[in-house]
Amino acid sequence: MNMTTLYFLWLFLIPLFQILSGYHIFLVSSQCLDDQKSLLLQLKGSLQYDSTLSNELAKWNEKTSECCNWDGVTCDLSGHVIALELDNQTISSGIENSSALFSLQYLERLNLAYNRFSVGIPVGIGNLTNLKYLNLSNAGFVGQIPMMLSRLTKLVTLDLSPLFPYSNQRLKLENPNLRHFIENSTELRELYLDGVDLSSLRTEWCPIDESLSKLQILSIIRLDQNNLSTTVQFLEILDLSNNKLLSGSIPSFPRNGSLRMISLSNTNFSGSLPESISNLQSLSRLELFNCNFTGPVPSTMANLINLVHLDFSLNNFTGSIPYFQRSMKLAHLDLSCNGLAGLLSPAHFEGLSELVYINLGNNLLNGILPEYIFEIPSLQMLLLNSNQFVGQVNDFNRFEQ
Ligand SMILES: *[C@@H]1O[C@H](CO)[C@@H](O)[C@H](O)[C@H]1NC(C)=O
Ligand SMILES: *[C@@H]1O[C@H](CO)[C@@H](O)[C@H](O)[C@H]1NC(C)=O
Ligand SMILES: *[C@@H]1O[C@H](CO)[C@@H](O)[C@H](O)[C@H]1NC(C)=O
Ligand SMILES: *[C@@H]1O[C@H](CO)[C@@H](O)[C@H](O)[C@H]1NC(C)=O
Ligand SMILES: *[C@@H]1O[C@H](CO)[C@@H](O)[C@H](O)[C@H]1NC(C)=O
Ligand SMILES: *[C@@H]1O[C@H](CO)[C@@H](O)[C@H](O)[C@H]1NC(C)=O
Ligand SMILES: *[C@@H]1O[C@H](CO)[C@@H](O)[C@H](O)[C@H]1NC(C)=O
Ligand SMILES: *[C@@H]1O[C@H](CO)[C@@H](O)[C@H](O)[C@H]1NC(C)=O
Ligand SMILES: *[C@@H]1O[C@H](CO)[C@@H](O)[C@H](O)[C@H]1NC(C)=O
Ligand SMILES: *[C@@H]1O[C@H](CO)[C@@H](O)[C@H](O)[C@H]1NC(C)=O
Repeated sequence: MNMTTLYFLWLFLIPLFQILSGYHIFLVSSQCLDDQKSLLLQLKGSLQYDSTLSNELAKWNEKTSECCNWDGVTCDLSGHVIALELDNQTISSGIENSSALFSLQYLERLNLAYNRFSVGIPVGIGNLTNLKYLNLSNAGFVGQIPMMLSRLTKLVTLDLSPLFPYSNQRLKLENPNLRHFIENSTELRELYLDGVDLSSLRTEWCPIDESLSKLQILSIIRLDQNNLSTTVQFLEILDLSNNKLLSGSIPSFPRNGSLRMISLSNTNFSGSLPESISNLQSLSRLELFNCNFTGPVPSTMANLINLVHLDFSLNNFTGSIPYFQRSMKLAHLDLSCNGLAGLLSPAHFEGLSELVYINLGNNLLNGILPEYIFEIPSLQMLLLNSNQFVGQVNDFNRFEQ
C-alpha cells in the first residue's frame, strides 16, 4: 500500500434514526423569537453568496415574521433555532469570529457542506456546544482543524471530508491530533475525515487502542486520500495495513459488529486476538499477516461462518489450531510461521468444500498427518513444511496435484 494512503475511520454505534428522529419531533410550527430572527438576518447579511444559486439563504426575508419556517431553519417549541441547513448555498465569504452564527446557542445541527469558504474553519464553532451534528464536508475549509472543535463534546456526527483532497490546502489534523481531538467526544458515533491530511499522526494514532475503546465500533468507513472517486461511504472495512509505525492492540470487538474485512497486515499490532472476534458475524476477510500478535488463536473463531480468507502468517500465535468446520465458505487459510502446536483432526477442515489454499508451514504441529486433508476436492495448494509431523503420506500423488 502506498504510504500516503491511509485507510481508516469508523462509524460508531447509534442508529441514524435516533439522531434524525430528534429533529422530526420539533418540526411542528413554532413561534420565531425576535432575537433568533435578528441573529439569522445578521448572519445572512454577513455572508457573501450568489443569490441566484442559493436556494435557501436568499429567501430569508425580514418581512416574513415566522423565521422558523425559513428554508434551512428549524426551531424547537420555544422558538430557538436548533438546526441550520446551509449546505450548497454558494457561500464564498469567511465567517467572522464574532459572527451572529455563534450566538445561536441552541443549535444542535449545523450543515455548511458544499460551499466555497476557502478559509480556515472558524474557531467560533467551538462555542456552539450543543451541536450534535456538524457537517463541514466539501465546504472549502482549509488548514488545521481548530482545537476549539474539541469543545463540542455532544457531537454525534462530524463530517470534515474536504473538497480538494489533493490540494496542499486541505484540512489537517496535526495539532490537535485525532486522539486529543476526540478524547472528550464520548457521544461521537460518526466521524468522516475522508481526505483529511492525517499523515503526521501515524506514529501517534492507534485506531483501536484504549482511548477509543469506549466508542463502540460498529462499522468502518474507508478513508482514501488518493482516491477522489471513493466518496465517503460505510464500507464496513478496517484497513490499516502496511503501516509499520502503527502499533496497538485490540481490546475487544463490538457485539453485532458489521465489519466484513479487517486488515492489519504489516503493522506493529501486538497482543492477543480477543475471543470477541466471534462477535463479527459478517467477517469474511481477516488479515493479520506479519504483525506481532501472540497467544492462542481463539477457539471462538469457529463461529465465523462467513469467513472466506484468513491470513495469520508471521505472528507469534501459539496453542492449537481452532476448528473451522462451520466456516463453510473458507477458501484461503494461512497460519504459517507461528508457534502453533498439536494434532490435526478431521474436525479441523472436514466438509469445507471451498478450501483452495492451506498453509500451515513453519509451526510446531505434530502427530500423524490425517488422510482426509489430501481429499479436500477443491484444494489447490497445501503447505505443511517445517512442522513435526510423523508417519508416511500414503497417497502422495493426489497431494501433489
Ligand atoms: C447544489 O444546488 C444546485 C442547484 O442550485 C444543484 O444543481 C446541485 O446539484 C446541488 N449540489 C449538491 C451537492 O447538492
Ligand atoms: C479568529 O480567532 C482566532 C483565534 O482566536 C484568530 O487566530 C483569528 O485570527 C481570528 N480571525 C479573525 C478573522 O479575526
Ligand atoms: C465564544 O466563547 C468564548 C469563550 O467562552 C467567548 O470569549 C466568546 O465571546 C464567544 N464568542 C461568541 C461569538 O459567542
Ligand atoms: C453532509 O452534507 C452533505 C451535503 O448536504 C451530504 O451529502 C452528506 O451526506 C452530509 N454528511 C453527513 C455525515 O450527514
Ligand atoms: C477533555 O476534558 C478534560 C477534563 O475536562 C480536559 O482537561 C481536557 O483538556 C479536554 N480535552 C480537550 C481536547 O478538550
Ligand atoms: C478509486 O475508487 C474507485 C471506486 O471505489 C475504484 O474503482 C478505483 O479502482 C479506485 N482507484 C484507485 C487508484 O484506488
Ligand atoms: C512496535 O511495538 C513495540 C511495542 O509493542 C515497540 O516497542 C516498538 O518500538 C514498535 N516498533 C515500531 C517500528 O514502531
Ligand atoms: C444483533 O442483530 C440481530 C439481527 O441482526 C438482532 O436480532 C439482535 O437483537 C442484535 N443484538 C444486539 C445485542 O444488538
Ligand atoms: C515485534 O516486536 C518486536 C519487539 O517488541 C520488534 O522488534 C519487531 O520488529 C516487531 N515485529 C514486527 C513485525 O513489527
Ligand atoms: C516472535 O517470535 C520471534 C521468533 O520466535 C521473536 O524473534 C520475536 O521477538 C517474537 N515477538 C514477540 C512479540 O514475542
